[in-house]
Amino acid sequence: MISSSNNLNFANNREIIISKRMKKTALIYWPKKGNVESTAVKLATYFDKDAFDIFTISEVDVSLLTNYDFLIFGGSTIGADNWEDTHTTKWYSFFESMKGVSLKGKAAAIYGLGDQVLYPEHFVDGMSVIRNELVSAGARMIGQWPTEGYEHTDSKSIEGDHFIGLALDDDHQSELSDERIEKWMQILKAELGF
Ligand SMILES: Cc1cc2nc3c(=O)[nH]c(=O)nc-3n(C[C@H](O)[C@H](O)[C@H](O)COP(=O)(O)O)c2cc1C
Repeated sequence: MISSSNNLNFANNREIIISKRMKKTALIYWPKKGNVESTAVKLATYFDKDAFDIFTISEVDVSLLTNYDFLIFGGSTIGADNWEDTHTTKWYSFFESMKGVSLKGKAAAIYGLGDQVLYPEHFVDGMSVIRNELVSAGARMIGQWPTEGYEHTDSKSIEGDHFIGLALDDDHQSELSDERIEKWMQILKAELGF
């Protein structure tokens, strides 16, 4: 787990929109060091640290996920091939370790980093892979996000006129990311019933 000494800035100066009233939230993400991780650090600022844990997929003990009421997953899309031929990836190992873990009754949401300019036909495709695994495990998906404001042509992570989770493009629209995160947190808050 990333400790609070790792520059994590919890909800000190903002309204805590998802608080102790929600029993426990875990944020699980991969990879480290890039846009996915910096987004995880931003999302952490919306939570009360006593009710929130943050892990990378390589360090989380999946058997403990059942202790949480709400799970947020974050990932990037690094080429369709990497997702389809995942035997060597960390996500593949993570999904394997998830087999047999029931997330029935848990709310879950996904955020995904992508690049809509270089990969307009596969923008944030990776979210769909994560979503399928979570649905198989019985999770109730929340946090759909409108497709307006992006220039992609296709994505496996769209259903109707919504992405299945928060789509962020820090390569070409980084100036919009903080505002998108804020709005998404408000959506999550409403869907979680606060
Ligand atoms: C080799 C490679 C392949 C990529 N493929 C896709 C893709 O298929 N779809 C997409 O939306 N973004 C794609 N991206 C963009 C990344 O998802 C994006 O830069 C993301 O912010 C990276 O997150 P990270 O810094 O946490 O690794 C690709 C990037 C690289 C380097």
